[in-house]
Amino acid sequence: MDQRPIGVFDSGLGGLTAVHALWKILPEEDLIYFGDTARVPYGGRSRETILKYARQDVRFLRSFDLKAILIACGTVTTTSLTTLQAENDLPMVGVVEPTCRRAVLVTKNKRVGMIATAASVRSGAYEAVLRRLDPEVQVFCRACPLFVPLAEAGRIRRGDVVIETVAREYLAPLQEAGVDTLILGCTHYPLLADVIGDVMGPGVELVSAGEESAFELKRMLKARDLRADEERRGETEFYVSDRVEDFEQTASLFLQEDLYHMARRIDIE
Ligand code: SIN
Repeated sequence: MDQRPIGVFDSGLGGLTAVHALWKILPEEDLIYFGDTARVPYGGRSRETILKYARQDVRFLRSFDLKAILIACGTVTTTSLTTLQAENDLPMVGVVEPTCRRAVLVTKNKRVGMIATAASVRSGAYEAVLRRLDPEVQVFCRACPLFVPLAEAGRIRRGDVVIETVAREYLAPLQEAGVDTLILGCTHYPLLADVIGDVMGPGVELVSAGEESAFELKRMLKARDLRADEERRGETEFYVSDRVEDFEQTASLFLQEDLYHMARRIDIE
């Protein structure tokens, strides 16, 4: 047994979709969440910049005595996971592999859509893993750069004309391609699941990167005997790099928990 906390990070709020799942499936674990809200979004930046930011995020988290890190960010996973793993003597889980495993299990017509940031689509990481897992799967990728800023601004609800219009435009080619499974390859996107689901229709299964990475983390902790005592109740600390009030407002809305006065601001460098 190991009671040390797990570090979870994302460019902003999206990693909360993983936190949400972790609270359900690993309620005994302590979490340290970092959202780099001063520099979100990462997805339109170069690989070099994303890696630089990710190294700083990991360095901040490693100021705590952690037992593992969950990279709850599609963009960091697709561009930097292997480098970060090689540089750190700490187990690190990303979002791509578990999400792709779920998608190939779920698809019936072997036509899988994948939406993510521009950096993630450019990396080809999701396609490569999907093809390795099932060479018969046809993959249709689409970058959705406006989804992250809209989600960070809290524009996540059905009936919000801005997010609905943007979603219809981004998702039309995937509807036309006849996908029956859609990977939400950025951890912000499950915040928009209602809107995305409405556009894609009931015949399309959405696979959430945040949720699948949480399941993967659980498997990894079990395999390495790193689980905390299941009798205890874990706690979560939140850190952000910009205004705590903005984070707390949207995070409270999404996690359905009062997170006011819960987050702390830090300088990231
Ligand atoms: C972003 O910062 O652009 C999105 C993060 C992600 O890909 O999960």
